[in-house]
Amino acid sequence: MITAHTANLLFVSSSLFNGQSKSREIAGEFVAGWMRSNPGGRVIERALAPSNIPHLSSETLAALGKTPEARTRDEQAAVAFADSLIAEAEAADTIVIAAPMYNFTIPTTLKAWIDHIARAGRTFRYTAQGPEGLLKNKTVVVVVSRGGFYTGNAATSAMNHQEPYLRTVLGFLGLTDVTFIEVEGQAMGPDVAAKGLEAARAAAASLTRLPLAA
Ligand SMILES: Cc1cc2nc3c(=O)[nH]c(=O)nc-3n(C[C@H](O)[C@H](O)[C@H](O)COP(=O)(O)O)c2cc1C
Repeated sequence: MITAHTANLLFVSSSLFNGQSKSREIAGEFVAGWMRSNPGGRVIERALAPSNIPHLSSETLAALGKTPEARTRDEQAAVAFADSLIAEAEAADTIVIAAPMYNFTIPTTLKAWIDHIARAGRTFRYTAQGPEGLLKNKTVVVVVSRGGFYTGNAATSAMNHQEPYLRTVLGFLGLTDVTFIEVEGQAMGPDVAAKGLEAARAAAASLTRLPLAA
């Protein structure tokens, strides 16, 4: 039996600014455009916060190495949580990540999400030819937001451990079709911030091939 494939989008956001987040706002506009081009498509949002994503703990890491029967109830729950994050990533054709820059890199919640989904034998494996990412054939859009400017300037681009890190770890997992949208200058006064937001909005709109809102 041939069934039509339902398009799946996983939307991972990680700002501490809730409704004020610029990365989430621009990523949300991309997601809205994607929904218009994929009627019937499914969107799952993982809004990461310290209250809903723990660090990967030594207990969870040990539990992952045990057989299901040998796990305690808490260990079963921790493994089930990590499994559900991996299943969401595996099921998605498109992954959208909203990632603010915090202290020159990504939020710790987003790092915790990566620590949970990067699992040997499931999302990557080591072969005689080196590591192989197993999250294949997916499109990834990452909206990165920053208070300052890190593009087009050798001194500040060397301080950017957000975008290069994400490109490395996503590539390691097999996610090589990655487009970055930058929201820069958000801490440099209202005029500079507004310009940075508009440039990102235009980039998100052109990615979904939508006319810009008037
Ligand atoms: C804890 C914290 C650390 C930050 N560190 C940096 C930084 O290292 N470099 C920078 O340019 N902006 C920094 N900022 C500013 C944010 O990157 C900026 O406000 C961005 O718009 C946040 O993304 P959001 O609007 O999606 O929450 C920091 C903000 C916070 C709250």
